[in-house]
Amino acid sequence: MNSILVVDDEASIREMLEIMLAKEGYQVATAPSGPDALQLFRKHPYAVVLTDIRMRPMDGLALLKEIKNLQPQTEVIMISAFADTETAVEAMNAGAYDYFPKPFDLAELKSVIQSAFSKYQGQPLQPVELATPLAFQTKPLIGLSPHMKRVYELVQRASQVVSNVLITGESGTGKELVAHLIHENSPRREQPFITVSCAGIPETLIESELFGYRKGAFTGALTHKSGLVETAHRGTLFLDEIGELSPTMQVKLLRLLQEKRFTPLGATEEQGVDVRFVLATNKNLEKEVMDGRFREDLFYRINVISIHLSPLRERPEDIPLLANHFLENYSRVLGKKINKISSYALRILSQYSFPGNVRELENIIERSVAMERSTIVLPESLALAAYKGVLASTKEPPQITLPAEGLDLDQTLDQIEKNLVLQALKKSLGNKQRTANLLKINLRSLRYRMLKHGLEQE
Ligand SMILES: Nc1ncnc2c1ncn2[C@@H]1O[C@H](COP(=O)(O)OP(=O)(O)OP(=O)(O)O)[C@@H](O)[C@H]1O
Ligand SMILES: [Mg+2]
Repeated sequence: MNSILVVDDEASIREMLEIMLAKEGYQVATAPSGPDALQLFRKHPYAVVLTDIRMRPMDGLALLKEIKNLQPQTEVIMISAFADTETAVEAMNAGAYDYFPKPFDLAELKSVIQSAFSKYQGQPLQPVELATPLAFQTKPLIGLSPHMKRVYELVQRASQVVSNVLITGESGTGKELVAHLIHENSPRREQPFITVSCAGIPETLIESELFGYRKGAFTGALTHKSGLVETAHRGTLFLDEIGELSPTMQVKLLRLLQEKRFTPLGATEEQGVDVRFVLATNKNLEKEVMDGRFREDLFYRINVISIHLSPLRERPEDIPLLANHFLENYSRVLGKKINKISSYALRILSQYSFPGNVRELENIIERSVAMERSTIVLPESLALAAYKGVLASTKEPPQITLPAEGLDLDQTLDQIEKNLVLQALKKSLGNKQRTANLLKINLRSLRYRMLKHGLEQE
């Protein structure tokens, strides 16, 4: 069933949509008003209805309610002028599938219609299915991209052995989560999982934290204290931010990894321990080795099983899954009945570059859920959150007055351009057509400029 009914009082829009949708292979009918649409609908319950909001005598909202009465399964998409946002929100609360602001981006509209059809056919976004489900998951690892599937496999494999694992990836890509999952799926799951961050802790402190000390080892060592390595005995020790370790600590760690032995501070004898090591860093350790900051022998010792987590922007197909997962989570946590992210809002998210990766997406959704007053996350709350970070990192355009020492004209113009494109994107809530209109350039030109300034990926 691929029938769609287009309702708009403007003939030119009806025609344009009819041509576009017919080209996509849909069976299209059109109606110039609400009553006409209802007449058609009674004869043939369309799967999807695309309707304008502002119409007389019956507006889109009234039509939506009538249609939902006749046929609750039909998905209705509202087309709204910018000024009608409030009505659009009301329509969403009354069961509309989505709303779409005018002037619209045809590619986006197509994809919204497509997803409305897939929903109608009873095929909503499938819940995450792992190739071989991880047996124990306190916090699920979400993602269906080929990259994430590979990660599941590696986690699976790593869980079954005791080799050292090195997890790499930008900040916020899920390194700690993966470390946890490896432990939880391993035979050591009943034993401790101990995390030690190697960043920002002075060397002497790391050493005593890790290895513990004997009474009198240093001033203030009044008792005997066992270290985290010992606490992790028979379990897993997760050493985070391994790229930050000082050269001396690197030597001590190498010994620990090689021999599974260590010496507490102030002790005369080494001590053996049974620990499984998982290590993580957001640095490129190979480069650190080449630059002489990280020991090569330690690197090879660590890098037995390596799991690299790619940045979120390189696997955009995971964005909707993750966003919906966080939505569910935070609506529950914050006690809100928000059950959907409007697909337009999802589009905005899918185009964003996420320098903070999954953590940033999680924060955006948490904030949006907290702010949202309707039952759907709309672009308004999302887009602001999503673009704020980018805006904050953009410097104000430089003074136009020529400084005495001169300036780099190309670079200056570039900065001004980027700043204006960002402002326009923000003003139009990420809608590219509207952004292009604001800047009086065409879509191609906008796309070129967004790519140039890293505001969009190829
Ligand atoms: N694939 C995923 N599925 C579900 N949640 C995820 C996923 N990846 C990351 N997260 C969540 O994103 C947040 C950040 O992840 P995590 O702390 O593991 O990142 P990290 O790589 O250790 O970052 P950093 O280098 O900054 O420490 C966590 O709340 C984590 O649960
Ligand atoms: Mg981390």
